[in-house]
Amino acid sequence: MVTTLPALTPLEQSLLVTLRSRAADARSPRPVLGDALADEIVRELGPDAARVRVDANLVTSCALRAKRLDEIAADFVHRHPDAVGLDLGAGLDTRWARIAPPPTVDWFDVDLPAVVAVRDAVVPARARTRTIAADVRDGHWLDAVPAGRPAVVVADGLVGFLDRSEVTTLLDRLTGHFPAGEIAFNSYSRFALRATRLVPGTRAVSGLLRFPGIDDPHELERWDPRLHLVREILLSREPEVALFPPLLRLYHRLAAHSTAWSRRGTVVLHYRFPR
Ligand SMILES: C[S@@+](CC[C@H](N)C(=O)[O-])C[C@H]1O[C@@H](n2cnc3c(N)ncnc32)[C@H](O)[C@@H]1O
Repeated sequence: MVTTLPALTPLEQSLLVTLRSRAADARSPRPVLGDALADEIVRELGPDAARVRVDANLVTSCALRAKRLDEIAADFVHRHPDAVGLDLGAGLDTRWARIAPPPTVDWFDVDLPAVVAVRDAVVPARARTRTIAADVRDGHWLDAVPAGRPAVVVADGLVGFLDRSEVTTLLDRLTGHFPAGEIAFNSYSRFALRATRLVPGTRAVSGLLRFPGIDDPHELERWDPRLHLVREILLSREPEVALFPPLLRLYHRLAAHSTAWSRRGTVVLHYRFPR
């Protein structure tokens, strides 16, 4: 059965880029993430999802950043079975299916209302997993999430669309709502943001990017002093680069020699709070 997508804005449609990338990774002979459910959802969306073109660079980087974010979330919920998990700008990603949180963990997938309507139609339900239809820049959506429990918050592909004051306000709300937790997201250097204009898969959304770019992961600790950097993950230096197609593999192997160069590529930033 094919589900027809309603009219989505270019911002909302960006979910197809990451979803298609994970699906293409799952179909590849040497998957990095192996997200079979992403592939099933793409097939269910049929021609609507096929409209979006993704290249090997997007496929590998989206798959690998999702894998690192999964590991951070999985590690947290397995250490804290009373945790709350949040995926901000979740699109049609089924992170909870990949990380299999303990049944005591409450998981929330947050995205704009039009996306959540599609999500509720095509993503299978799981006990203690809920969607929240909200703009993360709004003040009240967190009221629906239990406070007083440790939380892990991940955002894959979201922060690029927020400006500095929106990111700061969001971080402030999150670190104020929960007593303790971890926050992880894919970040962009100033160079990487400029480069999105040149890459076919991301060119369509490059005009929507409002994030100023971070060249030093400690910069975010200044944006929100309750945050403490746990790890900066430079994907060029990750072992899964060995699974990439030969030219990309060579590029990342060379980039890995330089921190500045590696930071120009895909970066996952991982923080904890309070300090
Ligand atoms: C690049 S997609 C990534 C989707 C998903 N995380 C994934 O990896 O497939 C970015 C997502 O962020 C959502 N988004 C953008 N701005 C948002 C906002 N202000 N509030 C909530 N969601 C937002 C979009 O609707 C879209 O689903």
